[in-house]
Amino acid sequence: MDEIKVFTGNAHPGLAQGVARYLNIPLGQCEVFEFSNENIFVRILENVRQRDAFIIQPICSPVNKSLMELLIMIDALKRASAGRITAVVPYYGYGRTDKKDQPRVPITARLVADLLTIAGANRLLTVDLHAAQIQGFFNIPVDELTALYLLSRYFREKGISDLVVVATDIGISKRARNMAEKLNAPLAIVEKRRVGNDDATETLNIIGEVKGKTALTIDDEIDTGGSLLNVVTALEKRGVREIYSCCTHPVFSGQAIQRLASCPVKEVIVTDTIPVADSKKLDKIIILPIASLLGEAIHRIHTGLSIGAMFE
Ligand code: R5P
Repeated sequence: MDEIKVFTGNAHPGLAQGVARYLNIPLGQCEVFEFSNENIFVRILENVRQRDAFIIQPICSPVNKSLMELLIMIDALKRASAGRITAVVPYYGYGRTDKKDQPRVPITARLVADLLTIAGANRLLTVDLHAAQIQGFFNIPVDELTALYLLSRYFREKGISDLVVVATDIGISKRARNMAEKLNAPLAIVEKRRVGNDDATETLNIIGEVKGKTALTIDDEIDTGGSLLNVVTALEKRGVREIYSCCTHPVFSGQAIQRLASCPVKEVIVTDTIPVADSKKLDKIIILPIASLLGEAIHRIHTGLSIGAMFE
């Protein structure tokens, strides 16, 4: 395995190109397309025997197609005798379905882990899982990177005074605490409750002092933007001065962009683990590139260097 090969499906070719540029190698040649009967087909167009192969493919919209492309690409590389296959999944779709919290529901995050493993992935490289425990759904090595340093650097350089970091729910409070430490700011936590299965949320309480401060909300993803909107309304009621928001994954489904456009958040800082279509770009949305973080991790996986050391 003396050569790295980086391949991409159709989910986020721009990110894969950025990673290949970082590694100073050309993107692997392959075609990934759909027949008119919607069956996906993959052809690897170069020799990959014994190569160290990485497939860059977030499980993002169209989610099921992105996932299926990834599985079929893994299968194609396996049958082409690649030496090792790493699924590089910057955004792990279905990650929120990670427990049986109602009767007779699936644990789809686990199912996706099984599918990737059975298809032939030897490792997973991912960024900010919805819950770190998803790592344990895999019996292959998982490297989970975090965008926390990228996001916190942006705000440190802004030098905002009187900042309070706000965890938008209890689940993100540990990461929010790390962010608060990095920014030398206090922490507040929003107590949020999901209402049914239709994306609606309710903000119950804010634990911590926010009055007169600049709030920085943090979440792993912004999906429909409903949670953020509720949090912003609650923060405003409690007299915050201004609000910034950040998250790793800009899912931006449904009404998200309209909500972000109309809500009084000054800036929304995200990364490009998921591509943001031009039609969804707003001046207040700032996208920080993640390619060099992934590229460095791939280099370290290939050469056997520590990934943890990247964050020390
Ligand atoms: C869920 O717990 C996640 O951490 C996010 O808070 C959630 O995905 C945001 O969803 P939405 O933007 O649809 O409210």
